[in-house]
Amino acid sequence: MEKFLITGGQGCIGAWITRQLLAEGIDFTLVDLEPNEFILQQVLDSDDIPSIERIYGDISASEFTQGLVAQTDATHIIHLAGLQIPTCRTNPVLGAQVNVVGTINIFEAARLSEGQIQSVTYASSAAVVGPAEDYDGPILDDAPHRPRTHYGYFKLANEGNARVYWQDFGIPSAGLRPYAVYGIGRELGLSSAPSRAIRAAVAGRPFKIPFSGPCGYNLVRDTAAQLIACARNVKEGAWGVNLPGTIADMAEVLKHIEAAVPEAAGSITFEGDTLPFACEIDTTNLGRLAPETPDTPLADGIKETADLYRDLYARGVLDPAKAAD
Ligand SMILES: NC(=O)c1ccc[n+]([C@@H]2O[C@H](COP(=O)([O-])OP(=O)(O)OC[C@H]3O[C@@H](n4cnc5c(N)ncnc54)[C@H](O)[C@@H]3O)[C@@H](O)[C@H]2O)c1
Repeated sequence: MEKFLITGGQGCIGAWITRQLLAEGIDFTLVDLEPNEFILQQVLDSDDIPSIERIYGDISASEFTQGLVAQTDATHIIHLAGLQIPTCRTNPVLGAQVNVVGTINIFEAARLSEGQIQSVTYASSAAVVGPAEDYDGPILDDAPHRPRTHYGYFKLANEGNARVYWQDFGIPSAGLRPYAVYGIGRELGLSSAPSRAIRAAVAGRPFKIPFSGPCGYNLVRDTAAQLIACARNVKEGAWGVNLPGTIADMAEVLKHIEAAVPEAAGSITFEGDTLPFACEIDTTNLGRLAPETPDTPLADGIKETADLYRDLYARGVLDPAKAAD
């Protein structure tokens, strides 16, 4: 019997993992900091939400986190709880406590479970990757990295610690490295701007995306499926898994938004620096651990997201007058 423990489960990726597990009829528990159903309400059927088992607490608190497995009978952990680039930049101490200590606490919980936890699958990030000039050719899954942000180094530390938990305690793990995850529920972080731009386009408001250049775009529904597949399939080793999604320039993203929401033509713009992550990425490990998971083309993913936002506004789940942007 599988049971998933999903930290950061009320967030964007967590909500989509929840959606897939509900559809599959698989048991799970969400862990998050405090009650907040804003994203779950957007992603799930509202009838499903009340019965979801949830535990609230801070993953950087060792006693709380290390006790989670005993409380839940979990067999697999998907660890997503974390703080994004802007918070880690302004408050690196808090960033390290949540992103690094929190992840060690999760691995400790797995170690203390004495085999009950079969794997730990966690969100690393494309932010471990440095800019293009650091590399010669496609970036392999196990390439050495020199990120340019605290957030990137925190994720890199997690990947290193995961290797030590395999080496010393035999805990299998996979750290997936998405680029800009997009879709319903993407509310926080620098790379949430394209998702908020789709929402603004549907709501009839202008929006300026604050970065430019090429980036990978991962539809959140695909990312959720890839994390679940890795959790099921990683039986040994500590894997780093590149997850580039579709690489596209910002002008192309805008073109797809305008195709999905023609009435928004000209109202969505972009300005700013390119993101400091190289985009020429090898995907060997993804093919090994998560074959046959979806890889939705960007145009289709943007259209799907715009259609879902239209439905959320039509049903009154979102209110254009109260939009945060
Ligand atoms: N969204 C992306 O584009 C992207 C890309 C690469 C990696 N990631 C990583 O994927 C993970 C999930 O991303 P997301 O987009 O779903 O983020 P999100 O911000 O929507 O969700 C994160 C969740 O973690 C929870 N959380 C934060 N601090 C916590 C704490 N101390 N204890 C317990 N819960 C806490 C938040 O309440 C939130 O529900 C993160 O680790 C992120 O760094 C995301």
